[in-house]
Amino acid sequence: MQRTLSSELANFIGQHVCLKGWLHTVRSLGKVNFLILRDRKGLAQIVIEDKEEFRKVAHLQAGSILHVAGKVIQSTQAGLRCEIVAPKITVQVSIQQPPPVEYYKPVIPSDLECILDHRSIALRNSQLQAVFKIQAEIAHAYRLYMHDQVQAVEYFAPNIIGASSEGGAEFFNVDYFGYTATLAQSSQLYKQIMVGVNERVFALMPFFRAEPSHTSRHLAEGKQLEFEIGFFEHWHEILDIQEGCIKFILQHLHAHCAPEIATLNHQIIAAPEHVPFPRLTFAQAQELYYQRTGIDERSEPDLSPAAERELCAYAQETYKTDLVFVTDWKRSKRPFYAFVKPEDPELTNTFDLLCAGTEITSGGQRCHTFESMVEGILSKEMDPKDFTDYLSIFKYGMPPHGGFGMGLERLTMTILKLKNIREVSLFPSDTRRIASVRIKANLFFGGENIRNEIVRLLRHHEMQFEHLVHESTPTSEDSARVRSTQVQEGVKAMILKGKTTKKNYQFNLPAHCKIDMKAVSELTLEKCEFEDPSVILERFGLIVGGVPPFGNLLNLDTFFDEEIKHLSRVAFNCGLPTESILMRGEDLIALVQPRFGKFSKQ
Ligand code: 4AD
Ligand code: MG
Repeated sequence: MQRTLSSELANFIGQHVCLKGWLHTVRSLGKVNFLILRDRKGLAQIVIEDKEEFRKVAHLQAGSILHVAGKVIQSTQAGLRCEIVAPKITVQVSIQQPPPVEYYKPVIPSDLECILDHRSIALRNSQLQAVFKIQAEIAHAYRLYMHDQVQAVEYFAPNIIGASSEGGAEFFNVDYFGYTATLAQSSQLYKQIMVGVNERVFALMPFFRAEPSHTSRHLAEGKQLEFEIGFFEHWHEILDIQEGCIKFILQHLHAHCAPEIATLNHQIIAAPEHVPFPRLTFAQAQELYYQRTGIDERSEPDLSPAAERELCAYAQETYKTDLVFVTDWKRSKRPFYAFVKPEDPELTNTFDLLCAGTEITSGGQRCHTFESMVEGILSKEMDPKDFTDYLSIFKYGMPPHGGFGMGLERLTMTILKLKNIREVSLFPSDTRRIASVRIKANLFFGGENIRNEIVRLLRHHEMQFEHLVHESTPTSEDSARVRSTQVQEGVKAMILKGKTTKKNYQFNLPAHCKIDMKAVSELTLEKCEFEDPSVILERFGLIVGGVPPFGNLLNLDTFFDEEIKHLSRVAFNCGLPTESILMRGEDLIALVQPRFGKFSKQ
């Protein structure tokens, strides 16, 4: 008998069909039993009354492979169109072990970390299945739009390349037959080369970024939807194509993924066809953020995550669209290839597209003369010799051109209003995982996790400690009071940022001392400043008053002031401002293994 899919049952009412799939759940309500079968189109309900048939499946676990022949009837149950009755079941693969996550429930009752630990199985959950089906349709729609509407030609660029394509430090080196090669951060250079061939080109490309921080929107590996075009009247034509592309993708999803959108409770962004995405210059965006919030970031070279969220809130309130362009960024914040505005050499013809609070695309016009490109490379202190091949295209003729790179995961996350980019990457890689498998788990996120790890370590090493829960205390004196300790026994943990490398460090010193920034810069070989509390929260999940002196758990270079060596007992907030640990000073040093220096002053 030919196989019928769960989604087709309504066409077969009154007929006999054969379903094939995975046992999802089986439950017994006395006389009747219900089996839910999963196939590639969704779920089907099978009603089993025959005791013999039920006996075949009663002991089976989720994942067993079954063939079910039976009659399709209209269902009387709410939310269900049809079901199968009088089934004859064949067990093809019998599974006896329960799965490590309850993926067969509508929402998996585990946190994201646990879901990622068991990714291969968790992906069988209906909501996750819907997310990744939609992601596949986003990629498909992108291809359709670029091929059919823009008439661009798809290219396939290399991923192992000779030099960084975006500059900066966020790239991985690989050992390539004894030479050092780089994993592509984007196919930027190749798409420009291909403009010299086909004028309009696009790609779906893997990218690799050695992002040192653990945030909800950065991955170490992802996919970029790339585009590049030569010859235009005005560089804003790139923005027009980007806008048309997003609207096309959303229409495509509404037309082809209605069941998946319903499975995800209709959580999808708005981009009405007739509403242009607002276009603000960077200066206007900063001004608007200031006007709306009173927070003054007008002298900053970049938009903060909070400003990005606020700008999208503005677009939503004012235009009922979730997307907004920010154009004309400062040269200092854009890559070497950005086209400098002839009328203002501080600014560039570049844009970001923000969606539901997050950057999803960067793009813009590129330098197209040999001289301006070499100047761009030199201005970022890179060596034109590393770009010989790429530079040759400018020697032999490039038109004005530009394009964009849109993160597939960022796009999926924002379109579906999800919170964490790991939810939309099948097998996410980040500072803690490679393809969703945990690397050595020495980077912890969030106050409770960090507290649990500290307590676990103390117990594991059989060290003496006291764990206190108390009110939140604004000053070291207050902390000493609620802990009944001396102020001098308190250890103050500070997260700093290197002004050159942007790297975070942790410096720890006795609570009654002040930090000597000059001594700090001698230890780190660069000027440092206090990291922004909102960055600390985003990167480590910690509020400033809760940071414990365990920088090692946060993968930070960790320094202790010499004075700490003289403390027999130490006290500190252990991840949360309302909890403290009291322990022996030497035990703390043994667990953290910090570098020592003299950087405190009274
Ligand atoms: O903003 P980015 O770095 O720009 C480029 O790569 C340029 N070559 C684009 C251009 O054509 N001028 O990356 C482009 C997009 C980002 O907006 C973001 O959506 C995504 O790629 N992206 C990341 N997504 C997740 N994790 C990361 N670490 C990402 N880095 C970039
Ligand atoms: Mg960008």
